[in-house]
Amino acid sequence: MKSAVRIAITGAAGNIGYAATFRVAAGNMLGPDQPILLQLIEIPPALDALKGVEMELRDCAFPLLHDIICTADVNEGFGDVDYVLSIGSKPRTKGMERADLLSENGKIFGPQGKAINDNATKDVKVLVVGNPANTNALIACNNAPDIDPSQFTSMMRLDHNRAISQLASKTSAKVTDIKKMVVWGNHSLTQFPDIGHCTVNGKDAKSLVDDAWYKDEFMPKVQKRGAEIISARGASSAASAASAAIDHMRDWVLGTNDWVSMGMISKGDYGIAEGLMYSFPVTCSNGSYEVVQGLNQDDFSVEMMKETEKELLEEREAVKDLL
Ligand code: NAD
Ligand code: LMR
Repeated sequence: MKSAVRIAITGAAGNIGYAATFRVAAGNMLGPDQPILLQLIEIPPALDALKGVEMELRDCAFPLLHDIICTADVNEGFGDVDYVLSIGSKPRTKGMERADLLSENGKIFGPQGKAINDNATKDVKVLVVGNPANTNALIACNNAPDIDPSQFTSMMRLDHNRAISQLASKTSAKVTDIKKMVVWGNHSLTQFPDIGHCTVNGKDAKSLVDDAWYKDEFMPKVQKRGAEIISARGASSAASAASAAIDHMRDWVLGTNDWVSMGMISKGDYGIAEGLMYSFPVTCSNGSYEVVQGLNQDDFSVEMMKETEKELLEEREAVKDLL
């Protein structure tokens, strides 16, 4: 049996936290042979609710779950952790854009980055889910000078999964028939879901759908899916977001045999400004990820990639005091 690893989950009593925590404890994220210690972090008013989550976790008698800590102290919560799911923050409501959350949520991620820096293991892997996820992840990363920036990522996997699902449905294929999906840039309206390299059962996806569907239906559908869910549920996506977070971390740790989209600190690949938290196509192996290189992007794609880069540059400028 492997030795137990420590996983911090912030906002564990919230909607996504509640959906994610039980699956993590069941072994869906790190596999059926990896024991786990959960370090659940909440704000003080939610500690009673968090106690209830802890009771339910214990009542599940998950074989892999060795212990649980519940705390509102980030230094305790991030103590010696190997993995962080940083979820805790406000969700948007109907009529808001995710960037409208920046002034309220952004300030959470500086202190969290510092607490991760000071308390987590030096090879900790961090996934930021709280919106606006890319720029919050950038803030956390910039406040953790002793940790390699590549260890901070933001969640684009929900967009990636949504894009796969939409294309599979359009082409009457199974989701597993779709390969090489990419979502570039920001987790926002400007994100670029790109099927230019995608295959469906080995066939070029663009040969199976017309350009009008791709640009006028598929792209806006994926870009606006979060708002569509808020409108339908009266609350933002939770189980699908939790599932995407588990997919993201599982693939990062255990490896991929397809491309996945991850928000990561740009090193200038594809001409994207260095230091931005931007989503690229990556492959993962041995606990690391690498950007898929050498993709030829047509003029339309370059324009879309630049548009979402521009928004991230503006967000970075807006939070420069927090970096
Ligand atoms: P929620 O309101 O149900 O839960 C949020 C939880 O976070 C609450 O329990 C709250 O007490 C806690 N919290 C707030 N501030 C905290 C802090 N400083 N430290 C620790 N915990 C804190 O919200 P939710 O539906 O779970 O969504 C959480 C976040 O995830 C939102 O910002 C939402 O917009 C975002 N989100 C991102 C994606 C993505 O794809 N990146 C998808 C869905 C939702
Ligand atoms: C989503 O994409 O579902 C989340 O980011 C929630 C939102 O605000 O859209």
